[in-house]
Amino acid sequence: MQKITIVEEKFYGRLKSRKLTDRQNDLFNTLFPKVSIEHFDDIDKTKYESIFLEIGFGGGEHIAEQAFNHPNNLYIGCEPFVNGVASLLCKIEDNDIRNIKIYQNDARNILKEIPENTLRGAYLLFPDPWPKRKHIRRRFLQIKTIETICDKLIKGGVWRIATDHPEYQVWLKKHINLKEVQSMFDIKIFESCNRPDINDWPKTRYEQKATNNIIYVELAKL
Ligand SMILES: C[S@@+](CC[C@H](N)C(=O)[O-])C[C@H]1O[C@@H](n2cnc3c(N)ncnc32)[C@H](O)[C@@H]1O
Repeated sequence: MQKITIVEEKFYGRLKSRKLTDRQNDLFNTLFPKVSIEHFDDIDKTKYESIFLEIGFGGGEHIAEQAFNHPNNLYIGCEPFVNGVASLLCKIEDNDIRNIKIYQNDARNILKEIPENTLRGAYLLFPDPWPKRKHIRRRFLQIKTIETICDKLIKGGVWRIATDHPEYQVWLKKHINLKEVQSMFDIKIFESCNRPDINDWPKTRYEQKATNNIIYVELAKL
């Protein structure tokens, strides 16, 4: 029988910054084992209407609000950064949120396990810009990840991307203008002056701090 080896993606971002508070340490011991997953198959999918995936949830502001507002859906949050996970654990406990699963790892790894036509939505909000030329390959948005997310979305499923970083905006526009991407998705673009509805698209911490014009893109799978 042929042996299939799945290669783990190398994550380049920060894994930890500040020391955790006592409460955060407690939540890592008590709540984290209940809400974290190591594999997509750890989830009982029958309990939820739709499944959404957030890539790099940071402090968890957006995923927590989406999950709180839509208790019948499941939100899988991917974030290797320990302090970000600790912030989300506090939000889950404070708001008694029951429909978030945390994948404390590189999103590209769980994406390999998610079957095609599964996700109702995906979010990539204020991704690390990796502005240096030699680091461009570290950007999450690549033609390969666009194809992967398209495969995992159901028809009509939506991938939302936002960035305030001028170079990433150029990168994003370059990708969504590609013929092959336009043949996969119906694409809508918004800017700070006509921002999507805040109740439907809550602000992340990066967005709250952003000073540049922001570009918001919605890619709906055709
Ligand atoms: C610039 S921060 C933005 C955080 C949050 N989305 C916001 O808008 O406040 C980017 C985050 O993405 C995470 N990240 C980067 N690459 C990732 C990957 N491949 N999978 C999961 N998370 C990733 C980083 O750890 C970081 O917390």
